[in-house]
Amino acid sequence: QYRKTLLCVLSLCRPFRQTCCQSDEYVRRFISENTEIVGQHSLTPELKLRLLTSNCRFWREKPELWPFEDPYWAIYWPGGQALSRFLLDNPAVCRGNTVLDLGSGCGASAIAAKLRGAAHVVANDIDTVAAVATRMNCELNSLEPPLCLSDNLIGSHLEHFDLILLGDMFYDEALSTSLHSWLDRSVKTHGTQVLIGDPGRAQFEGHGIRRLLRQLAQYNLPESVREENYGLTCSSVWHYCPQP
Ligand SMILES: C[S@@+](CC[C@H](N)C(=O)[O-])C[C@H]1O[C@@H](n2cnc3c(N)ncnc32)[C@H](O)[C@@H]1O
Repeated sequence: QYRKTLLCVLSLCRPFRQTCCQSDEYVRRFISENTEIVGQHSLTPELKLRLLTSNCRFWREKPELWPFEDPYWAIYWPGGQALSRFLLDNPAVCRGNTVLDLGSGCGASAIAAKLRGAAHVVANDIDTVAAVATRMNCELNSLEPPLCLSDNLIGSHLEHFDLILLGDMFYDEALSTSLHSWLDRSVKTHGTQVLIGDPGRAQFEGHGIRRLLRQLAQYNLPESVREENYGLTCSSVWHYCPQP
């Protein structure tokens, strides 16, 4: 079954992967020189991640000198923190399953899924730099990297995943709406389970998907995470339960 998933997903992404792999070494060096390894101050202190912190050059540097897209992957978002905490505390959710972390960023939720016994994990983020960061973060946590894909998978048929993870992906209305229709189809057609981590962003709370979600857990955010995310105090994990 995993071979089928791989073949299906790889065929979607082949043209892209060929162009993005050339500069992996450069990206890797850039990440290691411009991030700091942190763990302690998140909801998952047991995970080490390379992130952009106040000790990094680009915290103060002119943004136009940053050579890539905006570094979403260099932040551990509160939604992803709650989702990863939930996976680490509830091993049965991932054990033996084929898991897709969509919008994986730094890869923390994919890492949590691997640590809790997922049979296969795919980390998907449209930013190619996130794939390199995820691989490096896996190494930091002594894990084999997941399959990292950079194509836009929203809308495609992915029947072989048991579980889709979405950490802090409801930050934009158009993205939220396209995610909602895709998730609806995936759940109804393939029986896929969907878990969402969100800190109560306005785009999430006001979206139609919100009334189809059942809350599984809520976590108070650590003080430093609150300071970095002005106005947010807690983050929740939701199970998507669409009407039949
Ligand atoms: C707010 S960050 C969340 C990252 C991570 N899940 C976390 O919680 O720390 C959103 C991420 O989604 C990625 N993204 C946006 N649109 C996407 C799409 N259509 N497919 C895959 N990734 C996407 C961005 O590049 C970014 O890394």
